[in-house]
Amino acid sequence: MQLAVLTLFPQMFAAITEHGVTGRAVRESKLTLTPVNPRDFTTDRHGTVDDRPFGGGPGMVMKIEPLAKALASAKSIVGEDALVVYLTPQGEPLTQGLVDELAQRSNVVLIAGRYEGIDERFIEAEVHREISIGDYVLSGGELPAMVLIDAMARKLPGVLGHQDSATQDSFSGELDNLLDCPHYTRPVEYAGRHVPDVLLSGNHEAIRRWRLKQALGRTWQRRPELLQARRAAGLCKEEDALLAEYIEEHSTDKSNTE
Ligand code: ADE
Repeated sequence: MQLAVLTLFPQMFAAITEHGVTGRAVRESKLTLTPVNPRDFTTDRHGTVDDRPFGGGPGMVMKIEPLAKALASAKSIVGEDALVVYLTPQGEPLTQGLVDELAQRSNVVLIAGRYEGIDERFIEAEVHREISIGDYVLSGGELPAMVLIDAMARKLPGVLGHQDSATQDSFSGELDNLLDCPHYTRPVEYAGRHVPDVLLSGNHEAIRRWRLKQALGRTWQRRPELLQARRAAGLCKEEDALLAEYIEEHSTDKSNTE
């Protein structure tokens, strides 16, 4: 996958190109990430990339010309047919489904805005998708762009070490729309708390069922609206039964402590 990012802070992207799973994907050329700085395309001696908003009010707006030239440069690098994505709180919410869809693309240009945002005419003329990473406002689109890049990188063939890690993630594959189950490693006992016996049993079928039950139960407790989405897709008989067991066990827990 070839990515370019329009950003006034290109150094920020070292956080993902030099570390962890995304860093390895870059080193192995499964992902290329080219920051393009609109300031490099300004012609005045101050390198002006922003201006006051028409109509008045606080803050500044990113000017069209440096962005347009930076976008042309980005497309010359990743391809003229690249999908152009603008990160903004006004965009469609980022979900695993949207990540999976975007990860299919081979060329993407991400636009990370600063200040109050970018001139609306540039969005109308050049942007294909506007995406938000959540209902809160950050100081710029760089962190949201990195969130999206990290999530997409995990979906690229050969990027994750263990073959199954991506499909076993919360929100993906087998556990679609479910939160993840709890995880444990050594020691077997910590501060009087034991690892659940079933995980030490070596019984793979029992372990699979326990994990599915925990995933269903946690989702029921913490994010019931996700369970609705999965129900719509059709909870199977086994899942119905496991969730019923979980609810039964947890209502007993409660009455024991009250
Ligand atoms: N830019 C600032 N805040 C943002 C958010 N929540 N999502 C995407 N881009 C943003």
